[in-house]
Amino acid sequence: MERFYLILGILWCSTLTSSMRIVKPPMKEMNDGRQIPALALGTWLGNNTQGRVEPGQNEVEHAVSWAIDAGYRHIDTAYAYRIEDQVGRAVNRKIAEGIKRKDLFITTKLWNDAHAKETVVPALRRSLASLGLEYVDLYLIHWPVGQFGNGTYDTTDYLETWRGMIEAKSLGLARSIGVSNFNQQQIDRLIENGLETPAVLQVEINLNLQQPALLQYCADKDIVIMGYTPFGSLFYNKAKPDAPPPRIDDPALVEIAAKYRKTVPQIALRYLVELGVIPIPKSLTKSRIEQNIDIFDFALELEELRKLQTFDKNYRTIKQEKWLDNPYYPFEKN
Ligand SMILES: NC(=O)c1ccc[n+]([C@@H]2O[C@H](COP(=O)([O-])OP(=O)(O)OC[C@H]3O[C@@H](n4cnc5c(N)ncnc54)[C@H](OP(=O)(O)O)[C@@H]3O)[C@@H](O)[C@H]2O)c1
Ligand SMILES: *[C@@H]1O[C@H](CO)[C@@H](O)[C@H](O)[C@H]1NC(C)=O
Ligand SMILES: *[C@@H]1O[C@H](CO)[C@@H](O)[C@H](O)[C@H]1NC(C)=O
Repeated sequence: MERFYLILGILWCSTLTSSMRIVKPPMKEMNDGRQIPALALGTWLGNNTQGRVEPGQNEVEHAVSWAIDAGYRHIDTAYAYRIEDQVGRAVNRKIAEGIKRKDLFITTKLWNDAHAKETVVPALRRSLASLGLEYVDLYLIHWPVGQFGNGTYDTTDYLETWRGMIEAKSLGLARSIGVSNFNQQQIDRLIENGLETPAVLQVEINLNLQQPALLQYCADKDIVIMGYTPFGSLFYNKAKPDAPPPRIDDPALVEIAAKYRKTVPQIALRYLVELGVIPIPKSLTKSRIEQNIDIFDFALELEELRKLQTFDKNYRTIKQEKWLDNPYYPFEKN
């Protein structure tokens, strides 16, 4: 399927002017009949050794502008990132410059402090006000874990939260709805209770955490997967000491990259595309933003896919162990 889109994309692009050099990400179909672009720009500033990186004035605004200029049409953000205003300014400027709203796909997420059913729509309205938009294309429950602003757990059943999401969709405030950081049993529970199946699951997927069983489950349920932290521990400055290989200078990766005249980060992203996953690379650097979307003009071969598969060590970089004692903690507890 990916290869079919690849050929279509090349044919389509070859008819365009030479200023549009790169092959655009294809669209994928969701189980609600809508379409989602196969690559998104990440906008979480991340954590450094001091804790979370504080947002500045306009670094994300620049990144989103560069990304839209480079051909990105899908932006992944969240209330918790505290930069929805920056995303909104960039998106609205591009719309003023002629990009159509319907050609952009904006994803944002409900934070853990608004899990009660009746708080979901107001939380989404707050995000929309920050974004300066009338609707988002995709709204996700960020975590199955509820927690009030004062730190106490909100043990609201996420079934109730999901009912609030369904209401947000019926009001037209979110075109599609999905979940993030839910495990298979938690998604099954939504479906078994007769509620609609999420269109999307956003979870960590990278070379060290390939999650084949979860991918198969989502394929069976026709749920699209967005893969966060797509570079995993590729970069020395981000990798924890216990993180398994590969790093960016891994000989096998360097060899594959050289063959396709690509970079190692591009190979890591392309592998996720081959798995059927929508990668969400984050960068604030113009040249990297442009590099990370340029992965739709080649395909990895079976031997290379097999080699890349061997890096799967079920190693998770985002564990959120501070929520281990929450009844809805989604990950393995060891
Ligand atoms: N749902 C969730 O709970 C959840 C959790 C985590 C992340 N996410 C989403 O997923 C996105 C991506 O995950 P992430 O931010 O954790 O990590 P990531 O995208 O895997 O890595 C980001 C880091 O890689 C660097 N980088 C990007 N492209 C590069 C390239 N071509 N060469 C070298 N370095 C490069 C960036 O540096 P510079 O920025 O300095 O260029 C940044 O330090 C987030 O931004 C967010 O939107 C969602
Ligand atoms: C980032 O740092 C904040 C503040 O220290 C912490 O609460 C949060 O859990 C961290 N996030 C991750 C994914 O490690
Ligand atoms: C924390 O906030 C919640 C929701 O506002 C409230 O019900 C609870 O009593 C608060 N707990 C503490 C310890 O302040």
